[in-house]
Amino acid sequence: MRNTGIIPEIANNMAPRKVALTKLESHAIVHPVDTNALDIAFGGYLMSLMDEAACVVAFKHAGRKVNTVSIDGVRFWKPSLVGTILNIHACLNRVFKTSMEIGLKITETDAHTNEEIPVARAYFTFVAIDDNGKPVQAPPVEPESDEEKRRFEQALIRRDTRIELAQKLNP
Ligand SMILES: CC(C)(COP(=O)(O)OP(=O)(O)OC[C@H]1O[C@@H](n2cnc3c(N)ncnc32)[C@H](O)[C@@H]1OP(=O)(O)O)[C@@H](O)C(=O)NCCC(=O)NCCS
Repeated sequence: MRNTGIIPEIANNMAPRKVALTKLESHAIVHPVDTNALDIAFGGYLMSLMDEAACVVAFKHAGRKVNTVSIDGVRFWKPSLVGTILNIHACLNRVFKTSMEIGLKITETDAHTNEEIPVARAYFTFVAIDDNGKPVQAPPVEPESDEEKRRFEQALIRRDTRIELAQKLNP
């Protein structure tokens, strides 16, 4: 049996929700199977960790099925070795209408200093969809802290750039 993926009290409530409620942190360990020929975490593995976390954020916020329409801003800062514990941070930056941008960051925690060291980052755009796979409106999100407001504003700049680029390349 498959989960229907709809939470009516969330999906049908268009009142704005606080960004803080969308934040998610999870962890993973780099295993030998997750590495490439350089013996470091494979980029596709890191992307998959981010995709899954972004999907959870989008689904929980929209209260319905979602799918990925685009991924950009991908940056790998630091190679991660086998045995490293990764921290995956995800947060909803902004909802447009049917689409929403989720910001993802992976870090490692330095065992000596406890400092979080950036490993990778990406922006995932998910679209809320109905049972026929058609885009439907997602509830708006309300930033509160200065950091949330900065991400909210920058998400609009990124969206405009994405749409403009997509139109230029596929008129
Ligand atoms: C995602 C999907 C449902 C969108 O439907 P669509 O009819 O193509 O899209 P629309 O043109 O109606 O746009 C829907 C939203 O996506 C946004 N969008 C479209 N292209 C985009 C792009 N390149 N980058 C970011 N957002 C984009 C639109 O701006 C719109 O957002 P808004 O309603 O907030 O303004 C459809 O393209 C699809 O099913 N794609 C395959 C998804 C998939 O298989 N993903 C991988 C596994 S999850």
